[in-house]
Amino acid sequence: MQNSTNNKHFDAARHVSGLSQFLDDMSIPEGTLHAAVFYAKVGHGHIKNLNTAPALAHKGVHAVLTASDIRGENQIGGIIPDEPLLADGDVHFWGQPIAVVVAETAALAREAALAIECDIEALSVITDPREAAAQGQLIMPARTVETGNVDAVWSECDIVIEDKAESGGQEHLYLETQGAFAVPTEGGGVRIVSSTQGPTAVQRAAAKVLGLPMHLIEVDVLRLGGGFGGKEDQATPWAIMAAMAALKLNRAVKLTLPRQEDMRMTGKRHPYSSDFKIGLTKTGKILALEATFYQDAGAAADLSPAVLDRTLFHCTNSYFIPNVRATGISCRTNVPPNTAFRGFGGPQGMFLIEAAIYRAAEAMSVEASVIQRANLLRDGDTFPYGQVTERCQAERTWDETAQTFALKAAQKRVTDFNAQNILYKKGIAVMPICFGISFTNTMMNQASALVHIYSDGSVSVSTGAVEMGQGVNTKIAQTAMMIFGLPEERIKVQTTNTSRAANTSPTAASAGADLNGKATEIACVALRERLLALARTELRGTADDTLTFHQEKVWHNGVETSLTWNILVQTAFFQRVKLSEQAQYATPLIHFDKTTMKGRPFAYHVYGTAIFEVTVDCLRGVYEVESVQAVHDFGQSFNHTVDLGQAEGGIMQGIGWMTMEEVIYGENGRLLTDALSTYKIPDIYAAPKRIDVRFLENSENPMGIMNSKAVGEPPFMYGIGAYFALMNALKAFRPDKRLLLKAPMSPERVLMELYAAAPVNT
Ligand code: MTE
Ligand code: HPA
Ligand code: MOS
Repeated sequence: MQNSTNNKHFDAARHVSGLSQFLDDMSIPEGTLHAAVFYAKVGHGHIKNLNTAPALAHKGVHAVLTASDIRGENQIGGIIPDEPLLADGDVHFWGQPIAVVVAETAALAREAALAIECDIEALSVITDPREAAAQGQLIMPARTVETGNVDAVWSECDIVIEDKAESGGQEHLYLETQGAFAVPTEGGGVRIVSSTQGPTAVQRAAAKVLGLPMHLIEVDVLRLGGGFGGKEDQATPWAIMAAMAALKLNRAVKLTLPRQEDMRMTGKRHPYSSDFKIGLTKTGKILALEATFYQDAGAAADLSPAVLDRTLFHCTNSYFIPNVRATGISCRTNVPPNTAFRGFGGPQGMFLIEAAIYRAAEAMSVEASVIQRANLLRDGDTFPYGQVTERCQAERTWDETAQTFALKAAQKRVTDFNAQNILYKKGIAVMPICFGISFTNTMMNQASALVHIYSDGSVSVSTGAVEMGQGVNTKIAQTAMMIFGLPEERIKVQTTNTSRAANTSPTAASAGADLNGKATEIACVALRERLLALARTELRGTADDTLTFHQEKVWHNGVETSLTWNILVQTAFFQRVKLSEQAQYATPLIHFDKTTMKGRPFAYHVYGTAIFEVTVDCLRGVYEVESVQAVHDFGQSFNHTVDLGQAEGGIMQGIGWMTMEEVIYGENGRLLTDALSTYKIPDIYAAPKRIDVRFLENSENPMGIMNSKAVGEPPFMYGIGAYFALMNALKAFRPDKRLLLKAPMSPERVLMELYAAAPVNT
């Protein structure tokens, strides 16, 4: 079903003409005050003295808030209560908020913050997760996912390899930095406009810290200039700070973080350092995998436990491995609490198995693709966490990719090129993906929608979904359009507001469109059935007649009638027929037992396979991604443009994580890469010269909205293919060197690997 509407993002025209509103574009009332955050410049320490008086005396300053101004609980930890809003006593990371300065302008507030006197007695700083684990600094007890009998099977393996794999952090770099705007409301409440993926998360935490019932706090979100997981949990503190100041001063207060402060104060993708042991038969069947993940959680839990679960679930990627023991250790370090980031721990798990396969291929002197293909999941295979594969597309996407893009010929071309060239080497790698869709925490898989049909026939839809560029509002509008047979301009997807959609899950886990779209579908279908029942009377038809909506009219057995949508809605209104509907959707079938780490956590899985080809300049260490070619499982996509945009954007972000983005903290815990001059993200020159993502055909998915599959995160993980393509190119130049399994493979690291003094064979 291809037409013009299912081939665009409904915000596209507004975005490119500058009419889309973000937090900073909203008109604010005259007299609004502005807040700035004063934060720790020590990685770990004890606050001995905090004197805010000099800041308060500064020009234009109305208040300086500290932990002692908190009326409720100084606690924002969502999963584990281990994180204060404002430091009290101790500080645990460089950049931790200590005080909020409120002034006439943001510039005055920032200036005044510099006057705050704060003596902090420095304590020892840990920035390495293994060191944290060695010192017993754990966020929670270790978790293990286990299947088969790993210990018993090593003796049956022809090849057993042990090594270490490491992947780095990643800055979200949403275009719009964190921020919020708060206005006091009648009766002691507050209205917060926030750039958050989780309006309810903000509302709940604000209620706790402000000491107010949730019904006195209204959170409203129009759209975000990107979130990528960085605003699932970490949009909350700024919203509460603005609200606290607004309530204290009885004035509107706005707080937005300048880029550098945003980078310093917020957490990122979790770096992982992991050990693995993999065992295979000589024909390349993987019999066992043992993995221990050291997750760098940062100074507080934030979402780390949930991120760790997904790492454990995805550490076998698209492969069936009968014996697995995967252990996750969440380590407390003195860096900002790391948080959700596209893939949510999945990429780190998948990097490990691909690293293990890379080593196995090396030992067996075969292409990694031989081992990868031989171990792909099939229908009926059980994942280590107990879920059984259904409608598995691992082999199909692999074979279609290999055939469509002539994998064998490409591999030969690369080998030939490398035989003929000394200073340029090419590398090729295949990257299959398998990503589970649903929040791993079962209770979070619910959403609601509130649909009104106004008496003029226009339709208003409110859900818990937050638009952050991914196109969820487009998909929700399309759902209503299809059910009501209305054009785009008759549907309005409203702001996401806690008074219209309560108890919502954050828009995350790629499940935003499925969950909120399904809730919208339920509400719209109920309205359609009610209106069509009325139409049946109006048209004096019989009960078994097929009536449908199409092109703003009622159709009877496929033939247009004279009854228009507008007339029918008006008739309904005059006859006092209910024109509003509220609905809830809760994903069926899923369940998970946290004590055994078994169950069916996911509604379904998304599959796909990509081929990466790179060329390395072995003199300079620089490289180019020649091509990314993939067959991806979108289910029955109902918006090709949006979905392709998600796939291409995800791939670029994945390439950035694996090849060039490097989050570096100094020994004192200070972020050294806190600006775009020191933190390199992919630009147009880093983009693959060719990127060709095809839609897998005939993939049905009744668990997805309109038979589609979630697309937000899965393509990110193709980026891992860029790393292994680079590894293969490097190996062609230095076949004697055992290359480290350590991402990102920056040009600097390429040179270090290529020109290491002596072959390293450990
Ligand atoms: N795409 C854009 N343009 N901006 C974003 O912030 N976030 C990603 C993905 N795609 C993001 C994006 C992440 S981390 C998730 S979980 C999903 O979108 C969330 O949206 P969905 O559930 O509607 O797919
Ligand atoms: N994905 C993303 N965000 C989440 C999840 C998840 O599985 N669980 C809790 N928050
Ligand atoms: Mo996405 S990391 O689940 O917000």
